[in-house]
Amino acid sequence: MTKLTKAYCSVYFIYDSGSPLFYSKNISDKFQNIYLFFFFCNKQTMKIGFFGGGKMAHALAKGFIKAGLKGDSMVASCLPNDLKSKHAFETIGSKVVFLNKLVADHGDVLIISVKPQVVSKILPEIKNSDKLILSIAAGTSIDDLEKNLPKGTPVIRLMPNIPVSIGYGATVFKRGTFADQEHAVLVKKLFTSMGICEEIDEDESLLDTVTALAGSGPAYVYMMIESLADGAVKMGMSRQLAYKLATQTVLGAGAMVNHHQSIGDGCHPAQLKDDVASPAGSTIMAIHHLEKYGMRSAVIGAIEVATLACRTFSKKQ
Ligand SMILES: NC(=O)c1ccc[n+]([C@@H]2O[C@H](COP(=O)([O-])OP(=O)(O)OC[C@H]3O[C@@H](n4cnc5c(N)ncnc54)[C@H](OP(=O)(O)O)[C@@H]3O)[C@@H](O)[C@H]2O)c1
Repeated sequence: MTKLTKAYCSVYFIYDSGSPLFYSKNISDKFQNIYLFFFFCNKQTMKIGFFGGGKMAHALAKGFIKAGLKGDSMVASCLPNDLKSKHAFETIGSKVVFLNKLVADHGDVLIISVKPQVVSKILPEIKNSDKLILSIAAGTSIDDLEKNLPKGTPVIRLMPNIPVSIGYGATVFKRGTFADQEHAVLVKKLFTSMGICEEIDEDESLLDTVTALAGSGPAYVYMMIESLADGAVKMGMSRQLAYKLATQTVLGAGAMVNHHQSIGDGCHPAQLKDDVASPAGSTIMAIHHLEKYGMRSAVIGAIEVATLACRTFSKKQ
């Protein structure tokens, strides 16, 4: 067990009945309104350092704050001319620095959140192996990270998505050689406080498909919402109502599938689709139209091309 995991040994509960955040399924009924969040030791909050304070780092920082972490426990680095990132982090009460070395010194958990091509500039700043390194850089392999870090550094490679910022994220991670069960538990707790979080045992190349589905997925769903709304506007609905209905419909359909998955009744999305399509009704006519224009095939193909693109990017690095 490393110094870090030893330090974060006690469990802290936060009451929040109205939070959209998920709480651990293992918590007893007595704690229904409580979700498990951080590990504290000696009343000191875990310190998080972000290398790169861009969009995803900011989304994660907002998610950590929503889950109970204080803004001033986080530090992010950015380039001196990057006023947008500086402002974004300062607005949430976090410190911004222009030297990556200062991030390495500050954090107990260091998150590599720069673009993949910048990762090699960051790693030399990490001089000792007692920090937990989390990398969200797409296509940068665990091996590439470990080769350029002090021997024995615990590394976890993650792929979160943008909705982590509002507690609806989907994150998948793979442990590196020196990350143990307790590091995995810590990461799972951190990211479960911002949505769902799954560990994979499979080869890390599966993270390319995670990127294609969950990382890029919000963009496909935004397009779906936009198209639904455009269709309704075409048929005479106001833009405002159309977006409201389209958004709630996507949320509602997702929640229905999620509900059946969580109760485990085996009710498949196709069954739910059948349930709303009555014989000779308008829904089945619309479904026929979508099939005619290859909606399913287009979506399946999108995941395939995005996965292959991620694999190509990974090989180039
Ligand atoms: N966006 C997503 O949905 C998503 C999801 C999962 C994973 N990721 C991963 O997250 C990482 C960041 O993506 P992003 O979308 O957040 O990109 P981004 O907004 O461009 O963030 C990267 C940040 O790093 C800064 N930076 C560049 N060189 C630096 C250096 N030497 N030291 C410190 N900071 C430096 C950039 O500044 P400049 O803009 O001034 O260059 C930028 O603010 C990527 O590796 C990506 O693969 C993104």
